[in-house]
Amino acid sequence: MDKNRHIGICTAGGDCPGINAAIAAVVRYASSQNIRMTGFTDGFGGFIHGNYRDLTVEDCIGIERIGGSILGSSREKPFKPEGSDKPVRIKTMYDNQGLDTLICIGGNGTMRTAYRLSEKGLRIIGIPKTIDGDIWGTDRFIGFDTALSTAVDAIDRIIDTARSHKRIIVVEVMGHRTGWLALCTGVASMADIVLIPEIPFSLDIIATNASTCYRSKGYAIVVVAEGITVSGDWKGSSGERIAQMLGVCTGMETRFTSLGYILRGGAPTAADRILAERAGVYAVDLYMRGIFDVMVSFRGDVISEIPLAEIAGKIRNADTDRFVLPHARALGISFGDDYI
Ligand code: F6P
Repeated sequence: MDKNRHIGICTAGGDCPGINAAIAAVVRYASSQNIRMTGFTDGFGGFIHGNYRDLTVEDCIGIERIGGSILGSSREKPFKPEGSDKPVRIKTMYDNQGLDTLICIGGNGTMRTAYRLSEKGLRIIGIPKTIDGDIWGTDRFIGFDTALSTAVDAIDRIIDTARSHKRIIVVEVMGHRTGWLALCTGVASMADIVLIPEIPFSLDIIATNASTCYRSKGYAIVVVAEGITVSGDWKGSSGERIAQMLGVCTGMETRFTSLGYILRGGAPTAADRILAERAGVYAVDLYMRGIFDVMVSFRGDVISEIPLAEIAGKIRNADTDRFVLPHARALGISFGDDYI
């Protein structure tokens, strides 16, 4: 092992299937290049609290098929509160360990933190993961395909019971502040109505559309992103509120299910494993080419990198989509707006 070449790796933010496939790819490829690997546990917390361990090929055997992260994750925010000594502790650990780069597998918040750490002198390579689809600067992310497949499988099952009982069923999916997961789930499931934060909706319009679908096929499926805005001082889940209001407005039997954390686990799909493994290998290649302070980026199947400075603080919103959204409209899926 070349002791002068030493990469650290951590996973931060909400976990998702495929992270372990990325870790395995990084470790296998780096080890083949005689690069030492150290894994820091529980996101940036591992740096702050000194929790880390060597990572070898043997540690990674078979993990590509397992959800979650063998390193654990956290939502540790080193720069909050402003002025805390955590960034200095992270830099000290980075230097004391003799790291010459850190690979961070994470989403928006992680890339923002990574960028600020790069300004403190850490050399960072980001790998995008999220079930929300909201990382700016890339259109593929580890975890999204698996979460989408899980959501679509769940809705296939829900349609069975909606049809049998002649009901309107509202299904809420995660997505944080964007509607990508709900949009893609709705298209793949041919849902009747999809509500996302990026498109304001009218209750009257969704009630009318739900009633029309119900009369034509005896049931209706409404996919709701968790981040939509519902009226009044409602504090519960958005989807539950939509189900309540639809039941009142249509007079039809209405039920609600939130898929929640089911979408965060499970064995990664083959597509997610391939994406994660490609990103892991590419990240090590960037290191060997001396390219840092970037995030691995996908434009379709094309892999490249984008500076952390360009993406920090930005969010990728679903209404900017030029592909799935127009197709959803063409399929007659209602977004609860007055689109004709
Ligand atoms: O960012 C992934 C995500 O699952 C979001 O979709 C969701 O809103 C959030 O994490 C939940 O956060 P936590 O895991 O901290 O409860």
